[in-house]
Amino acid sequence: MSNNIGIHDLEAATAHYVLPLDALAEAHGIDPAKFHRGLGQDRFSVPAPDEDVVTMAATAASRLLARHPEHHVRMVIFATETGVDQSKSAGVFLHGLIGLGPHVRTVEYKQACYAGTAGIQAALGHIARYPDEQVLVVASDIARYALDSSGEPTQGAGAVAMLISADPALVAIEPQSGLYTADVNDFWRPNDSSTPFVEGKLSMDAYIEATLGSWDDFTARRELKVTDVDRFIHHQPFTKMARKAHAALAAHTGVELGDELIEESMTYNRQLGNAYTASMYFGLAAQLHADTDLTGKRLGFFSYGSGAVAEFFTGVVQEGYRAHLDAAAAVEELSAREEIDYPTYRALHEAHRTVSDDYDVEPVTQAPFRFTGVKDRVRHYAVR
Ligand code: CAA
Repeated sequence: MSNNIGIHDLEAATAHYVLPLDALAEAHGIDPAKFHRGLGQDRFSVPAPDEDVVTMAATAASRLLARHPEHHVRMVIFATETGVDQSKSAGVFLHGLIGLGPHVRTVEYKQACYAGTAGIQAALGHIARYPDEQVLVVASDIARYALDSSGEPTQGAGAVAMLISADPALVAIEPQSGLYTADVNDFWRPNDSSTPFVEGKLSMDAYIEATLGSWDDFTARRELKVTDVDRFIHHQPFTKMARKAHAALAAHTGVELGDELIEESMTYNRQLGNAYTASMYFGLAAQLHADTDLTGKRLGFFSYGSGAVAEFFTGVVQEGYRAHLDAAAAVEELSAREEIDYPTYRALHEAHRTVSDDYDVEPVTQAPFRFTGVKDRVRHYAVR
């Protein structure tokens, strides 16, 4: 066994519906170019009433583990901004739905869009101590902004499940991280609100400052030139934000960094919208699924969560990685979404339940896992 630890495999899932941003632009009387070029977004996923972060996570994780029937998952880390309970981890719902055994540590991590990376880093520590075990890290989120707000076109939904292990087949995460934390009120969601509050301009500035701060911390600890990184995967609240961060890094380092270093990582997110904790990992999936052979190449990850925490870390793509990927399934996941019109989207948004009184949810999707409603204030799920 080598000393490598990292991402052994991954799978992605999204929600049942999709809204083209052209429909939102028409309804709001906005030039659609503002969304396509200004934000770099084309469509966003919209959950059906019987979907939530648990069902998307279960879909992604069950597909992942089906490819690894002999897995040794000993810990489940569920990263989300969209938790379904203030106390019980969404991971415990997931654990039950995908049939994991009882002898597993299961927790939920939260720090806006950053928590997936916290999960990966905790998993690396676990595997360093117990190299024969594996950790299932699932990042799952629904970005749901208020109707008619400036954040509305950047909504989205999705989950990425990753198996972290020794001798990974996809990406070996290298030692050392660049870290940055600053107490900023750029984006937050109080306990009694199902949509976030956002200071849009401040959030973009805070993102850039944290990105560069994490880079500086990294390079102070490890000798690495910006040209030693072959591809950058940024958090993508909207893909134009990744371009802005890339340009800021170029200006900061004084090195010209071409668009080709980020271009392939943005193909899924343009069609998906923001998936908060899962966003950067959809970027990774898109990059690995792209035609370019990245064997032996170094990826640089910029993870950002408002509030604000950022981390820069690197990973090396492993030989033979392509044989372990299922790019067709990810593309199918996006293309299988049912397109809806603006009034349908608006009605779905308005019908979103924010209280925990009892209610039943009729089946809508053909997804393998469904949210069926609340009884005696307990959330219930079904396996198809
Ligand atoms: N054609 C082409 N481009 C156009 C255009 C047109 N007709 N009209 C406007 N644009 C461009 C603008 O020039 C601008 O581009 P630049 O920033 O490159 O100049 C872009 O479209 C957006 O225009 P505005 O700045 O006017 O957009 P806005 O004020 O309506 O909202 C936003 C932008 C603040 C990002 C808003 O979408 C928002 O609040 N989003 C949610 C918060 C967010 O994602 N912040 C990012 C950092 S925080 C983070 O990363 C955590 C997270 O996941 C939430």
